[in-house]
Formats: sequence, structure tokens, C-alpha cells
Amino acid sequence: MKFHGVVVLSVFFRVSSGENTTFPSWFMFGAATAAYQIEGAWSTADKSESIWDRLLHTQPSLVMDHSNADDACFSYDFWTRDVEIAHEMGLQMYRFSISWPRLLPTGFPNQISSIGKSYYGNLIDGLLRKGIQPVVTMYHWDLPQSLQELGGWTNPLIATWFADYARVLYTLFGDRVKYWITINEPLTICDGGYSKMAAPYLDDMKISNYLCSRHVLLAHAKAFRAYEKFRKQYRGKISMANVFFWFEPLNPEKDKEATKLAMQLWEGRFGHPIYSKTGGWPPELEKYIAGISKTEGYNQSRLPPFTPEEIQLIKGTYDFYGLNHYTTRLVRKATRKTAGDWPFYGSKELGVTFVNHPNRRTIVIDWFQIYPEGLRKQLHWIKDNYEVKDIMITENGLPMLRLDLADYDRVDYIKKNLEQVLLAINEGVHVMGYTVWSLIDSFEWITGYKLKYGLYHVNFESEYRLRTARESGKYYRRVIKSRSWDES
Ligand code: NOJ
Repeated sequence: MKFHGVVVLSVFFRVSSGENTTFPSWFMFGAATAAYQIEGAWSTADKSESIWDRLLHTQPSLVMDHSNADDACFSYDFWTRDVEIAHEMGLQMYRFSISWPRLLPTGFPNQISSIGKSYYGNLIDGLLRKGIQPVVTMYHWDLPQSLQELGGWTNPLIATWFADYARVLYTLFGDRVKYWITINEPLTICDGGYSKMAAPYLDDMKISNYLCSRHVLLAHAKAFRAYEKFRKQYRGKISMANVFFWFEPLNPEKDKEATKLAMQLWEGRFGHPIYSKTGGWPPELEKYIAGISKTEGYNQSRLPPFTPEEIQLIKGTYDFYGLNHYTTRLVRKATRKTAGDWPFYGSKELGVTFVNHPNRRTIVIDWFQIYPEGLRKQLHWIKDNYEVKDIMITENGLPMLRLDLADYDRVDYIKKNLEQVLLAINEGVHVMGYTVWSLIDSFEWITGYKLKYGLYHVNFESEYRLRTARESGKYYRRVIKSRSWDES
């Protein structure tokens, strides 16, 4: 109530300034989760080990609070409550992922788990009964350990293994699933996985991260092409979900080129081969990595080239662009020696440092700055740089340390991001929908259960993992009902 005057004033301002706060009727509101982060039941029935199971069972101290997701939110048992929550908020879509080792315990289609099949089938049916579109991620980082032992994402054969898995998914669930995300955040898989930030927790940011990048793209492309057989009948839409921070130069002139290169390493590496007119690696990045590989004494570029056939295979394998957006960073040109290291993939490789804006609020994590306009700029960038017509925001959310329900910072974050999304739509960018990360609190990878992203709080002390709406969950419900971020 104490903000009443401010609220009235700002509503007055928006009305008098003519700002439209209402989303078009086709725009979809959603929320997301991922299998490893919520399901638990890590060894139930015939489910096999994933790379995250193996990593955290063998090296528990990697996680800040020494936890793992063996039990997580027990969504394997309480998935009906998740559907209920999604329905309570009025979501039009719910993005979740399928655990590859739960459905295919050997990693291959020779053994399809009937229990895994009914678990995901029930979840999909449960959502559809409530009128919620399932948006299904095929791979959200939980590779079967058996495939890791064959080299995981550095083995070129993984592209075929993944396409085989995708074919099983289309066959089992394609009649009911209209939105597929092949692979979530290839950047995190490849640069995180090979810089000791994520499973398989290996240390090779010279060769493995780029082999992985190449194979992730081929895997995505083959999975996309495998849908051709089903497309006419099922009419689904497919893409991948790319994470990229919006980057701006610290000094508009001096840091311009470094910023462009950083964008190419983060986004262009995965975006250009799929969404650009010409396909293939972004030319400047390709040239840059070839150049430094040479000075380092390699005979070939560490960024392995695609053949002309592969370029054609990958190009155009999308029905929309899936964007995971969280924050904006400033880029400062440095040298490869003086560059700041993690948490920013590629800074050493490129000789750039990522810095905070002096006047923007930093929240919870030292690199998480609030700058909603960054999302709008990013949406425009995608539209301007690619052939893409439709964009789906597949993740957007705010980490908080709060254990309670009064997450007003998150309400504000979502509200301001939604405002920017609508402005972008009104400026001609076709954004199909917006997905909050996350539906509920969950296991946040190497930060364990410390960081909370949930619209709903989860009580990890209770044996039923009770879920309770936070203020952000209530706000989101009002947004969806009124179809306005202003929710008045
Ligand atoms: C990226 C990932 O897709 C998701 O798994 C993670 O929890 C969130 N963003 C927040 O870090």
C-alpha cells in the first residue's frame, strides 16, 4: 500500500503517454523446469546414471552446499502438483525436460523404459487436460553416463545417437507435443562442461569445447531433420534454446570490436550456423580462432570447420528462435594475458574482460545486473541479424537467496522484462511467448539449493516438498489473467 501513490502516478503516466501494457491474444505465458533439477528418483526403476548423478556422487564437494539432486523436488512423485501449480497461475505453456537416461537407460533405442515412457506420457496428458501446451526440452544436460564413457559430446557419433533419441521422442509423444527444444544452452554444455563448471566437469577449453560445439550443432540439425517424417502429421515446431547475455561495449569506440567478437563466441557460435542466411561458423570468429590456433602451433584451427554439406545440413534447422535471457554485461578489451577469467566463458580466449555497469543494480550474484532494456535490444539484435521470424523467450528469471515468499525484487524483474518484451513486439519483433525460470525452486547445479528461482517456494525440509506461491507467482497469475504486465 505504501507504494500506492507511486503506482497511481506511474499508471497515469503510462496511460497519458499512451503506453500499451496489454499482450496480443496469441502471446503465450509459461514457466520452465528441467528433469535433473526437479525430478529426484535418480535410480528409480530402470533409469540409468546421468553425468550429473556420477559427478555429484563422486565429487559432492563441488556443490556449494554439498547437495545433489537425488531427491530434488520429488517431481517424479509429485508431478501432479506441478501441473496444478501451472494451472493455478493460468500458464499457457510449461517447459520441462525429458531425462535421456530415464527414457533410454542404455542411451540407445534398443531399450525404451516403459516406466519412463508412462511418466512423461502422464505428465504431457496431465498438462493437456488443463489446456497447457507442453514445451519439451530433449536435452537439459543429463547425458547418460554410458555415452560419456564413449566420449560424450566430443565424439562425432553423438549426433546420430541424439537423432535416434529424438526419433523415439517424436514417435512416443509427437502426437501431443507441439513445441520441442532439442538442446538447452549449448554454451553451458560445451564451455561449462569443459571448464569445470558443469558435468562432465573436464578441463579442456582448447579442443574439447569446440568439438562439443560442432557436435551439438550437428546433433540438433539431425534431430530437426528427423522430424521431417512426422511434421506433416504432427505440425510441431522445433528449435534449440540459446543462452546469451546481452553485451555492450564499455567504451563505445574502443571496445566495439571486442564486444562483437564476444557476441559471436557466445551466441554466434551456435546461432550463426542455424539462423543466418549463409550458415557456418560466424566468419570473424572462425578467422580469429584459426589465427590464434596457428600462433599456438596447431596445424588446424581448434574450431573445427564444417564441410559444405554440414553447413547445409545445419542451416535453417529451426521453426523459431529460443532465447534464454538473464542479464547484460559490459565488455572491455584486454589482452589474452590480462583478461578476466570465469565466470565469463571465452574471456581468456578472446582477450576481453566483462565488467559491471557502474549505475545498474547488481543483485545476489556479483555479475547479475538488472537492465531490462538489454532484453529488448537483444530481441532486436536477433531479428536484425538472422532470418528468424518468431522468437520464444525460453527462460528469464531472477536468482534470490530469500527463503520466504516476499520476493518483490522478482516481481519487479519480471514486470520490467515483460514491459520490454511488449515494447519489442510493438516495434515489430515477433515474440511468441515468455517463459519464467522457474516454476518452482529447484537444484541449481553447482550452487545447489542456495539460489532460489521459483515462482513457487519449495520446502525442502518437508517430505512432500510442499510448494507455496510466492508474491511473484501471484503477480504472474494476475498478469496472465489480465494479459497485461501492469496487471491492473
Ligand atoms: C540456465 C539453465 O537452463 C537452467 O537449468 C538454470 O537453472 C537457469 N538458467 C538458472 O541458472
